[in-house]
Amino acid sequence: GTVLGIEGTAWNLSAAIVNEKDVIAEVSDMYKPPTGGIHPREAAQHHAKYASYVVKGVLEEAKQKGLDASDIDAISFSQGPGLGACLRTVATAARMLAISLDVPLVGVNHCLAHVEVGRWKTPATDPVTLYVSGANSQVLAYRMGRYRVFGETLDIGLGNAFDKFARSAGLGHPGGPQIEQFARNASTYIPLPYVVKGMDLSFSGLSTAATAALKDNSMEDVCYSFQETAFAMVVEVTERALAHTGKNEVLLAGGVGANMRLREMLDIMCNERGANFYVPEKRFMGDNGAMIAYLGLLMYDSGNVIDVENSHVNPNFRPDDVDVTWIPRDLE
Ligand code: ATP
Ligand code: FE2
Repeated sequence: GTVLGIEGTAWNLSAAIVNEKDVIAEVSDMYKPPTGGIHPREAAQHHAKYASYVVKGVLEEAKQKGLDASDIDAISFSQGPGLGACLRTVATAARMLAISLDVPLVGVNHCLAHVEVGRWKTPATDPVTLYVSGANSQVLAYRMGRYRVFGETLDIGLGNAFDKFARSAGLGHPGGPQIEQFARNASTYIPLPYVVKGMDLSFSGLSTAATAALKDNSMEDVCYSFQETAFAMVVEVTERALAHTGKNEVLLAGGVGANMRLREMLDIMCNERGANFYVPEKRFMGDNGAMIAYLGLLMYDSGNVIDVENSHVNPNFRPDDVDVTWIPRDLE
């Protein structure tokens, strides 16, 4: 099959066309907030303005590869989680497209799309996934028809914790890459609050404590200590999910996954446990249209489509609410 998918849960608007073999076309346009602050309504306006640009763009790219709009079997979109205004804008575009092409509509869980594109584009088959982005931080693994959330943040996502710190430290947005740079030149570890509650995580207090630590310490040392503490927390929960599930693969997903120190720490943990560690190409780590089109394809192929009338978005859509129709049950 061939599916056109649209992602737009947050800042990045992205459309893609995929088939079972590969990504045929992808066109994205990122909303850049003027001050680095959070402007969900402006992001939604951006998505409304550029929806036709990204959709026309992928259709044209596909046409050059000999694929016509009439070859598209279904339209998929991010149903959640995400910013309500952004989700509604993208859903409207997806519904219009499905109606005009007269094909089924597929509502995709954004978190599961990160997992599935990683399983597609790496050798991982049945991994524990660490998904760390701006708004999300979760440890997920498949078990008996569902992706279970083994641990997750109780407040903000790790990327947002980095960005919040960066803003109050006078660094630009996004904070993650700059924090990584400063951390490379550190000399001392400053103890910061390490908060793992059961299998869940909390980053808000850590971000505030890091900001406070700037008073008496260098930017380099604070960035390094912030990273070491936060990454030790997510690696601990990932390791415990591995032990609990008996799985032997770890998959990294989300924008924070670009961080080399995080990759190194996960790699060390996996080596010690005899597990394989997989990191997809960067274009499949942050939010991208290809992952929405790809999970849309898996769902379409397994008959998991929705009526336009029942295609409401859900800003708090949980991955463990999704019935996984696309993994054969005898794989368990
Ligand atoms: P989502 O809707 O899934 O939460 P998002 O809009 O936050 O996605 P992503 O591209 O997945 O988008 O992630 C962006 C986040 O990743 C930002 O918070 C940014 O600071 C962080 N980030 C990017 N590069 C790095 C890095 N090298 N180290 C740490 N964090 C990083
Ligand atoms: Fe994401």
